[in-house]
Amino acid sequence: MQPYEYRRKTEGKDGHINNKTEMNKIKEKIRMKKVAVLWSSPNLDGLTASAKNRFLEGLNDAGAEVKEIHLNRMKLEHCRACGNGWGTCNKTGNCVICDDFAEIYQTLREADGIVWISAVYWSDMTECFKAFFDRLRRCDATYNHFLADKRCILIACAGGTGRGTLECLTQLERGLTHMGMRVYDRIPVVRYNRDYILPALVEAGKTYIDRLENGFDMYY
Ligand SMILES: Cc1cc2nc3c(=O)[nH]c(=O)nc-3n(C[C@H](O)[C@H](O)[C@H](O)COP(=O)(O)O)c2cc1C
Repeated sequence: MQPYEYRRKTEGKDGHINNKTEMNKIKEKIRMKKVAVLWSSPNLDGLTASAKNRFLEGLNDAGAEVKEIHLNRMKLEHCRACGNGWGTCNKTGNCVICDDFAEIYQTLREADGIVWISAVYWSDMTECFKAFFDRLRRCDATYNHFLADKRCILIACAGGTGRGTLECLTQLERGLTHMGMRVYDRIPVVRYNRDYILPALVEAGKTYIDRLENGFDMYY
């Protein structure tokens, strides 16, 4: 039950909310979901960027608060597997390397949902993506568990034969599962389907926000 002053402004005698502006404000507040979009490809106008832009369009149409992170532009070293191989992150939750990793990790922690988009290289995510992903898994899966239960979308973009797209998605999901995250959808974008998949990604973005908002659960 809302405090009386608040109810008086928005409800009629019968208790119905009759002030549309107030009602819209409440709706907006409830709907605003924070989504982090991580993507990796060196090409700013390639297939991966197109897929990312379409999905972003859907997220923005749905009123989400979006933070886009282009991993290729960030300073990210690879994991040093320090100490005896288990690293110190499994006792502290922090990575010893000082670069952009910690800031990205914090963004993911604050997000309601995370979208992972990678170009397909060698049937896998890009090297840049892997460098970030390996360190994230170390810190989160072994110690912090900040990302457990985050709901995710995976998109893999292959501009060659399209072979290896599913392996890339599987590899991504395996790592997310180690961190306890859940995957709502796994979307392959290849040269063959680009004409009908890219437009569909706008709807996919909107649907994702709706699912984050209203809940959608699968049991593993
Ligand atoms: C090192 C390397 C490995 C690649 N491996 C694959 C592959 O396994 N399967 C595939 O379909 N395309 C492969 N490709 C093609 C990329 O998926 C293609 O460049 C794709 O368009 C990347 O997205 P972009 O347009 O954003 O660069 C590879 C490209 C590179 C540079």
